[in-house]
Amino acid sequence: MRATARAQPNIALIKYWGKRDSGLNLPAVGSISITLESLFTEMRVGFEPGLERDRLTVDGDEAADLLPRLSRCLDVLIGLDREHALIDSRSNFPIAAGLASSSSSFAALTLAAAKAAGLGLDRRQLARMAGRASGSAARSMYGGFVELSNHADRIELECLLDRDTWPLSVVVAITTDSPKPVGSSEAMEISRRTSPFYGRWLETQQDDIDACRAAIGSRDFERLAATAEHNCLKMHSVMWASRPPLVYWNHATLECMRCVRALQADGVAVFFTIDAGPQLKAVCLPEHTARVREALEATSGVVDLRITGLGAGATLVDPH
Ligand code: PMV
Repeated sequence: MRATARAQPNIALIKYWGKRDSGLNLPAVGSISITLESLFTEMRVGFEPGLERDRLTVDGDEAADLLPRLSRCLDVLIGLDREHALIDSRSNFPIAAGLASSSSSFAALTLAAAKAAGLGLDRRQLARMAGRASGSAARSMYGGFVELSNHADRIELECLLDRDTWPLSVVVAITTDSPKPVGSSEAMEISRRTSPFYGRWLETQQDDIDACRAAIGSRDFERLAATAEHNCLKMHSVMWASRPPLVYWNHATLECMRCVRALQADGVAVFFTIDAGPQLKAVCLPEHTARVREALEATSGVVDLRITGLGAGATLVDPH
């Protein structure tokens, strides 16, 4: 009745933005991501007979405000007639601040809860269930380079390349650790309803996915860089043109972008990507990590940095 799982967040190189079915939480577009290594969320789930309601602690503190979304995830996974759960969540990075904590949180929660409830689901089923709670969480069930593809009634996941076959480094520049102003589900809905660019975003996504898959297949860093930056800026253009506008960046995000551009001009193999938050993730070849780190560390407004390689998919861990 108890289990613990650990999952790493993933960063989309080709982004998911928009839902085609909010009820089933099915994405409107496919996406491609890399799973990270040294950032993680650990979830301990115990179904306790006699408990009157679900309880959640996040990094040791009771977190009633975050509980409804996690309870819903358990309802969908196990059913409404389940026992109530004690959930303990721990992350080694700031949550809800555009560092993809929902991907690691819901992947870890789904894996731990399925084990604790004895569901016997395979990884693909677990990924689909995690995706019901958070679209990006489905990808954290897998390691390395992961493609999420969209089918009529379901999503499919595939590891395109192992993390050891093409090791990359990610330098995460944290520009603030305060929570983001608008959650991604609500923001996606605003974009779908109001952004004049939303239709073109959907129409052009497959080209970016194909180009990114090809770049990964041939380990073509330059092509990967160009495709990922283009897709990221296109997603943010959709957001900026929404009403009300969805602007997640701050001055330091732009300073970090300028820093990455300067490194590129200097021959460093690096590119940036930014999700629904102000943090910039610089992806580079491992031999350039120190250069990228130094440059971002010296960038105005950067309050913290995390350096990570590519990681594995979610795993069960022994309880402490
Ligand atoms: O999975 P969600 O609901 O947290 O949405 C993720 C949205 C982006 O991070 C902006 C893009 C992505 O594909 O991860």
